Amino acid sequence: MTADGVSGGPTDDDASASDDGPADDPQAAIDAQSERRRAALDDRIVEHSAGDQQDGVPFVGAGPGNPRLLTVAGMELLEEADLVVHAGSLVNSELLDEYCDHADLVNSVGKDLEELIPLMRDAYEDGRNVVRLHSGDPAIYGAALEQMDALEHEGVPTYLVPGVTSAFAASATLRTQLTLNEVSNHVAFTRPQGKTLTPEEDHISEFVEMGDVTTCIYLGTHAVRETMDRLLADGHDPETPVAVIYHASWPDEDVLVGSIGDIADRVEEAGYRASALVVIGEAVTGAGYERSFLYGDWATRGSTESSD
Ligand SMILES: C[S@@+](CC[C@H](N)C(=O)[O-])C[C@H]1O[C@@H](n2cnc3c(N)ncnc32)[C@H](O)[C@@H]1O
Repeated sequence: MTADGVSGGPTDDDASASDDGPADDPQAAIDAQSERRRAALDDRIVEHSAGDQQDGVPFVGAGPGNPRLLTVAGMELLEEADLVVHAGSLVNSELLDEYCDHADLVNSVGKDLEELIPLMRDAYEDGRNVVRLHSGDPAIYGAALEQMDALEHEGVPTYLVPGVTSAFAASATLRTQLTLNEVSNHVAFTRPQGKTLTPEEDHISEFVEMGDVTTCIYLGTHAVRETMDRLLADGHDPETPVAVIYHASWPDEDVLVGSIGDIADRVEEAGYRASALVVIGEAVTGAGYERSFLYGDWATRGSTESSD
């Protein structure tokens, strides 16, 4: 326990954590870790900040593709790594060539937890520096926590190193903001209905309905037509701006700009079925905004309200 009375996180005793469930059953490990999380705050939450180097296996965000968009913390960890388990084609091979040429590389695509967890655990227990490399930021559609929980359950500490998520690369490419004064007050990171999300769990139409939300759709390149058709069926303005950014920040990056009414034709013409981000909302164009209070008279009036 810390002085704050919080507990949790791996200690020397955590090697026995696998008593809570069979080591070869990741779901049991996830359930056990969830119980711990509910019961007490992990010590490491107060002991470390994001960006600190910590003990264990770091889950690093590779950023959207361009190796220059990897964080300094991520780069340093990769340069010291002996084993890098990476997210396959979503991670630019240029980045692997540049920072990981000395390390063993394993592509995680097509491997299940039952294979990945022992692989990382054994390498870590052999004293090797292991890095789990996710695309973008691991916290966005990364399925990182289940791997972390399964490793923690095996007594292997883990932590997260953030990365630039593809929505941020997309907004930079579009030369716009995802939030924009008087245009967009909110951002939704979402995905369309399909195998993972039921129609009831798909909230894209509701976000668009709100009007002042920039909706960033991950994992939806293959479903642009269905998504736009649903928006039209729900009565949304066909002129609402939509951008599809394929491979944001990669050498073959491509930007398709249109509207709810015509973007599906453009995507199909280009032949994209994966690896693109769909952005819906007026912020796509960057038009129609008003100057903010931040750099107006308000800024010099000595207001105590936070300006960020
Ligand atoms: C499994 S999710 C991972 C997202 C990632 N964790 C992130 O923060 O960007 C994969 C989806 O992210 C989006 N994506 C990832 N990299 C991208 C890029 N460079 N450009 C556009 N979209 C990208 C695509 O929608 C793709 O289907």
